Amino acid sequence: MSEAWQAVEELERTELKALFDADPERVGRLSVAEAGIRFDFSKTHLDAAALRAFVRLAEAQDLAGRRDALFSGQVVNPSEGRAAEHSAERGQGAPESVQRARGFHSRMRALIDAIEAEAFGPIRHILHVGIGGSALGPDFVVDALGRGENMRYDTAIVSNVDGAALEEAVRGFDPETTLLVIASKTFTTTETMLNARSALAWMGEAGVSDPYGRVIALTASPEKAVAFGVDETRILPFSETVGGRYSLWSSIGFPAALALGWEAFETLLEGAAAMDRHFRLAPPERNAPLLAAFVDRYYANVAGAETRAVFAYDERLRLLPPYLQQLEMESNGKSVRLDGGEVGRASAAITWGGVGTDAQHAVFQLLHQGTHLVPVEFVASVEPGHALDPEHHRQLLVNCFAQGAALMAGRGGDDPHRFYPGGRPSTTILLDRVDPATLGALIAFYEHRTFANAVLLGINPFDQFGVELGKEMAKAMDGAGAPDFDPSTLALMARAFGDEGEE
Ligand code: F6P
Repeated sequence: MSEAWQAVEELERTELKALFDADPERVGRLSVAEAGIRFDFSKTHLDAAALRAFVRLAEAQDLAGRRDALFSGQVVNPSEGRAAEHSAERGQGAPESVQRARGFHSRMRALIDAIEAEAFGPIRHILHVGIGGSALGPDFVVDALGRGENMRYDTAIVSNVDGAALEEAVRGFDPETTLLVIASKTFTTTETMLNARSALAWMGEAGVSDPYGRVIALTASPEKAVAFGVDETRILPFSETVGGRYSLWSSIGFPAALALGWEAFETLLEGAAAMDRHFRLAPPERNAPLLAAFVDRYYANVAGAETRAVFAYDERLRLLPPYLQQLEMESNGKSVRLDGGEVGRASAAITWGGVGTDAQHAVFQLLHQGTHLVPVEFVASVEPGHALDPEHHRQLLVNCFAQGAALMAGRGGDDPHRFYPGGRPSTTILLDRVDPATLGALIAFYEHRTFANAVLLGINPFDQFGVELGKEMAKAMDGAGAPDFDPSTLALMARAFGDEGEE
């Protein structure tokens, strides 16, 4: 174990409330305001000693060097021999990569202009099929920002291979005025290809004369899209060096750019770029993604928390938790380091969460009185997203802030059933408003926090071999020949598929 890690793991467990008495400047010291977002880490166990230990760890793990490598387009994903150039999509990266991304964006914009000019006839609906990173980012952004008159097209994002998802999505869509967007970096993903074929069949059966003429493909494998039957002029490529769960900023963001308008998409990129600059330039003690990673490591590696919970206190951000689940767990849910050695300590926490205030009436019992330590993250916006009685928003924020205060303060007393231990940590992320710039900055904050966690742990956040075995076994189960599966699996197959398995 490195000395720097040892110093972190030996940090004393301090009493959360006492930290405020010990340091009257604590809130200011542990709050960062950047790109329209205030990050308050003061209700966590980070104190001066912990900060010193983590800053030393960041130095020992060469955070600055790894960050430079990330932004300069060097290979930071060695198991796949690739750079990770999502920040080049927002203008922050190696000049040639930024240039290439701009070229791809120009194609995207030209296609959007053509759609708006009715080159495909009148389009009312966007049916986007994709999964994982090819769905979660666009879905989150469209859902967050595409409300009311901001939503220019009826948009459905379908990921699940369950036909019920597609069937439900197109209910009420007119096939004649639907644009089919197929999003897949590899253009081989089973779920997406099947959904794409079924969507084309739905159009064909409804009498659309040239369903393939209504297809837009978003992919880093344009040749596969051509082989699928998509005309080259309607393929929006992006670079192989943009990872799936980091691809919102590339052509994968097309449904967001189309549904919300190009200006909104560009502003989303600018917001993300502001966070890129902050992550690159701010000193560690004032660097929001890095401080958040310190908090994550403290709870996972010092306090032994196995999960972290994120609650969006804003209806527009309701898809933040599932978005983060992929970003954080697919990136850092790993047991080996970059060099193939064991990580030897807890890596990514299990990310879970929901929306406030609903979650208060469901899972918060465990957070306040349960036996697990769960660091909580509250995400809210100062400005409301509706024109109803301001009392709604006031209640939303009052509840959000009160929960954080209650988790920390606790309440004593003689009745064990009504006793709250307190001392439970939380972070609050308060957006000025939910708009394209702030949302872009928020998502980039999470990307960089994930990267910073990976650097501290010494792992590669940009590959995802853990998802391959299950895919391969599904293919094997689907294939011909005697399946080589365990008796339990064979019995399930027999029950579901008849004589294909053995009982
Ligand atoms: O199975 C995991 C994964 O590879 C994700 O990393 C990715 O975002 C998703 O599948 C979809 O992949 P694609 O964009 O190639 O269809």
